[in-house]
Amino acid sequence: MTATIIDGKAIAEELRARVAAEVARVSAAHRLVPGIAVVQVGHNPASEVYVRSKTRQVAAAGMRSFDHRLPEDVREAELLALLARLNTDAAVHGILVQLPLPAQIDAQKVIDAIDPAKDVDGFHPLNVGRLATGMPVMIPCTPLGCMMLVNRVRPSLAGLDAVVIGRSNVVGRPLLHLLLAESATVTIAHSKTHDLPALCRRMDLLFAAIGQPALVKADWIKPGATVIDVGINRIAAADGKTHIVGDVDFAQARDIAGAITPVPGGVGPMTIACLLVNTLRAACVISHLPAPAV
Ligand code: GUN
Repeated sequence: MTATIIDGKAIAEELRARVAAEVARVSAAHRLVPGIAVVQVGHNPASEVYVRSKTRQVAAAGMRSFDHRLPEDVREAELLALLARLNTDAAVHGILVQLPLPAQIDAQKVIDAIDPAKDVDGFHPLNVGRLATGMPVMIPCTPLGCMMLVNRVRPSLAGLDAVVIGRSNVVGRPLLHLLLAESATVTIAHSKTHDLPALCRRMDLLFAAIGQPALVKADWIKPGATVIDVGINRIAAADGKTHIVGDVDFAQARDIAGAITPVPGGVGPMTIACLLVNTLRAACVISHLPAPAV
């Protein structure tokens, strides 16, 4: 069997086009142009790529982007003061502070300082708590993108067995709540889990978000399972170039899975598309408009 390839690149493109159409509609009808502030501290190379791409896609969707770049050695108080200004700036509907942050800055303190209504990452404790209790919420972008991809091939997850490998606040933990909300039976696996391959082999849905290149092998996968690969691992190849590989051994897995996301071109492109969705939704909530049709 050869798996259906879930084309995240095409699905993200489609989603961005729907967001752009909704932005055009609210701009024309309500003179509302959604705006997002992206705050970057220092020069983390992965962050540079991500932020550049974000700025481009925000503009292409017809939204405003306000970029704030602070030096690597910026004081925490200065970053908090910037966030206080952005929280009260009426043109800013979404605030994203790119992680990781340098050691002198307490990342949790920074996340806590973002107005929960503008928290388009969904990292603020209030939004985390809302997600955990099944309330409407700003959903973190990468898990939201994962759910959109899995729903393409599995419109109902009710009663399915799902494993999420990885327990990060950015991906694993929010995914747990999203899967539960769709009535899957969820297991979170992590570095201390016993016999991970045997556990995975029982699962209808497998989400790999652990940051270990090609960890998940063919014999970890139940025949016909849906595999969502969240990993973005940069590998120096023999040709001297850098290659991006996922947490799943794609070449092996595609012969046994029912459906699988490639890397690159799977979950990655969905993250920024979902950031656009969250920014548009935040702008509508803040402006007391009905929820957009995306
Ligand atoms: N760094 C890596 N992924 C993310 C993300 O989703 N949001 C933020 N703010 N920083 C990140």
